[in-house]
Amino acid sequence: MKILFLDQSGKPGGAELCLIDIAKPYRQDCLVGLFADGSFRDLLVQNQIPVQILTNQEIQVRKESSFAKGLGSLTQLLPLISKVAKIAIDYDLIYANTQKALVVGALASFLSRRPLVYHLHDILSPEHFSKTNRRIAVTLANRFASLVIANSIASKTAFIEAGGRADVTEIVYNGFDSKLYQSNETDVKQLRRELGLEDKFIIGHFSRLSPWKGQHILIDALAQSDTQVTAILVGDALFGEQDYVQQLHQQVTSLGLENRVKFLGFRDDIPQLMSACDLVAHTSTAPEPFGRVIVEAMLCGKPVVAAKAGGAMEIVTHSVDGFLVTPSQPQKLAEVIDTCVQEVEKTAILASNGRKSAIARFDIEVINTQISNLLNRLAGINS
Ligand code: UDP
Ligand code: GLC
Repeated sequence: MKILFLDQSGKPGGAELCLIDIAKPYRQDCLVGLFADGSFRDLLVQNQIPVQILTNQEIQVRKESSFAKGLGSLTQLLPLISKVAKIAIDYDLIYANTQKALVVGALASFLSRRPLVYHLHDILSPEHFSKTNRRIAVTLANRFASLVIANSIASKTAFIEAGGRADVTEIVYNGFDSKLYQSNETDVKQLRRELGLEDKFIIGHFSRLSPWKGQHILIDALAQSDTQVTAILVGDALFGEQDYVQQLHQQVTSLGLENRVKFLGFRDDIPQLMSACDLVAHTSTAPEPFGRVIVEAMLCGKPVVAAKAGGAMEIVTHSVDGFLVTPSQPQKLAEVIDTCVQEVEKTAILASNGRKSAIARFDIEVINTQISNLLNRLAGINS
């Protein structure tokens, strides 16, 4: 099957990393069209997935934009829509992986008469999107998409609550290759030494730096935890949230935590870094649509504490294979951190359960089969 994938981002967020795994089995015949250039393109090339940058013009619509701005940017999108419609003629279906890709893909699907699949990686709720943007996404998906793939029950539920069609929506979780998350003891020790943290209790936070990812909650919790507890913040402000980065640095200074918080920036050795941690924290203040980092930490055999909302609640069962805490409550997080520092054996059991559960539930082969069955059904191919 020839698939034209569309994604608005030049940078590799979770939706883009997921797309690499989905596109890989189709790489002989597919094309990934991006609306911005950047390191995501390099990752696609490394994975031998054909990629083309479809526009050099920055697309202005922001998550909070108004209807008027929305219409304005639609005019700006017309050349891109027409270009995508022409390319789509050579493909069997259009697979939109992000919101702006949906806007372009929907109209290109109409013009080229190719079916549209929308992979919904977002929770379409007021916390994440303006009313206008929710309305645009739902209207286009309802009118043009033959299939909506939601990355969790939480994303599907929010889509339907926003008016989305339940009959075309299927849930498929992100898949992972568990082999990539195994590290050897010597490398892990070496990495802890390199970080200068060999004798510390290391909490890892692996997310782009963005207010709703809640790095500030972890920093506040740290101030209430034992002084041997240190945090590494792994990730960058991928989508221009520089004010938040400054705010985090100021918070660290004002709490006197300079020696206990390390900003490592964006890294591509996530499994190794996770394996070097004693605990991985997820602290999103708004419901997480899915939460790749939670699964990845579990696959590394590390204890996880996640913010109890959205997709995180589908991944972790509290006190069975990880910890769930009320979002935005540093005090509660600090309590879990204390438990992990003190009750090493109990925590190790949860981590081991987490690894088993993640391997069983998020296997890349199984997930890719689910996707190919759905796409084949759409194309009328028996699988
Ligand atoms: N990630 C990475 N390098 C970093 C920080 C994060 O490769 O420095 C990866 C991380 O391993 C995960 C993804 O980025 O696979 C983030 O996905 P997630 O679903 O957790 O959140 P998103 O950013 O998509 O909302
Ligand atoms: C989005 C979501 C994240 C999810 C990822 C992959 O980026 O914010 O929660 O894990 O997509 O589906």
